[in-house]
Amino acid sequence: MKKLQAIRGMNDILPDQSIIWQFLEKTFSRVVRRFGYQEIRFPVVEQTQLFKRSIGEVTDIVEKEMYSFDDRNGVNLSLRPEGTAGCVRAGEQNGLFYNQQRRLWYQGPMFRHERPQKGRYRQFHQFGVEALGMPGPDIDVEVLQLADTLWHELKLKDHLTLEINNIGSSEDRKTYATALTEFFTTKTKMLDEDALNRMHTNPMRILDSKNEDVRSVINTAPVLSDFVNDDSKSHFDSLKDMLDRAGINYVENARLVRGLDYYNNCVYEWTTNALGAQGTVCGGGRYDGLVEQLGGRKTYACGFAIGMERLVLMLDTLGKVPSSQLKQVDIYIAIVNQDLMSEGMSLANIIRNDFPNLGTLCNCGGGKFNSQMKKAYSSGADVAVILEEESCDGKLINAKIRRLDDSNESKIVKISDISKELRDFLKISDG
Ligand code: HAM
Repeated sequence: MKKLQAIRGMNDILPDQSIIWQFLEKTFSRVVRRFGYQEIRFPVVEQTQLFKRSIGEVTDIVEKEMYSFDDRNGVNLSLRPEGTAGCVRAGEQNGLFYNQQRRLWYQGPMFRHERPQKGRYRQFHQFGVEALGMPGPDIDVEVLQLADTLWHELKLKDHLTLEINNIGSSEDRKTYATALTEFFTTKTKMLDEDALNRMHTNPMRILDSKNEDVRSVINTAPVLSDFVNDDSKSHFDSLKDMLDRAGINYVENARLVRGLDYYNNCVYEWTTNALGAQGTVCGGGRYDGLVEQLGGRKTYACGFAIGMERLVLMLDTLGKVPSSQLKQVDIYIAIVNQDLMSEGMSLANIIRNDFPNLGTLCNCGGGKFNSQMKKAYSSGADVAVILEEESCDGKLINAKIRRLDDSNESKIVKISDISKELRDFLKISDG
């Protein structure tokens, strides 16, 4: 029978990779806790309407990339393509934003029907942070500081660049879009089909084009900063000033517009050269209009989301996962005499209780001495506890402990002293 395969662009995360994910997740939860952010969890499936109203009808995500379907009641639902819309919907529905400030974080799978390639998948995972009820720019700087701390903890700071831009209000962007449409109307010969399609619906998306001819036209197009209102400008100037004081480096990128419609004022992306084409690791900005757009009261808001697959790729390619993290087994119990199976398993549990931070693997499935030792070495353990002899009444008295390195140092020890001896052997002061 033909074997079934995973869906294209949806990855299995196998044990050698999941340890990198665990390292990442541990680092995230440590950092968000340090900044006082609280976790929120919300469904993977929402009404399609939620994403249309927040991300925008004329965006790539809503037009081309959503996994949408009618459920058995005929309600149109979508797998979430991002976290902000669901987070805001959940917070608003449960009264979290009413006259309150909130600092929230989430993580989990998102779904976009994009063309899969390295760093771009159809199921991917985001770690996101959303801060609601604060006008900024102090809170904008705080969330950027949080991201900066993550990079520092992951030792990736030198490989990431923060790009920022001021995209003004939605009215500013409407005026700008009109100016862009007028400009592109005079350049239709140089535009490709995609750009021609977008010229009247969402001309700002043309600015992301990778087509060389289109790019040469874009270079002479009007720039958004010329259309931005004075309040946005002063918000952006204060933000830059505060980033300077916080020691967070950035570059201004006048072409950075982001692919979701809910943003206003400052937007940003952290990018890297270490990943090839999919170099954006994190994206975010302010979205002061979104809560109102979804039926709530006007609520200031900002945040970002990190693409976790891209960070895992970065950590892996740059060799930034600490070796201690990659280690899963520390002690291997080899039970050479099968009559000692039950006692060996009890001994393994005593060791697990005495060394709760270590991994103790007990050989199962029998095997001769050599084959068990082979497994012990390939498990990555530092020490093997070898059970070979029993005393005349079938009771386990002694074990051999052996260092699994080139020294092969070994020692016969009393079972009653096993934890003390292992502690000495492993040079552990506190189990
Ligand atoms: P986004 O820029 O669409 O923003 O996605 C954020 C990050 O998710 C990207 O920078 C990228 O690292 C990762 N990502 C996006 N699509 C894929 C994909 N197909 N495969 C792998 N990784 C991907 C948002 O989603 C906003 N909700 C961010 C935000 C939060 N803004 C305010 N708060």
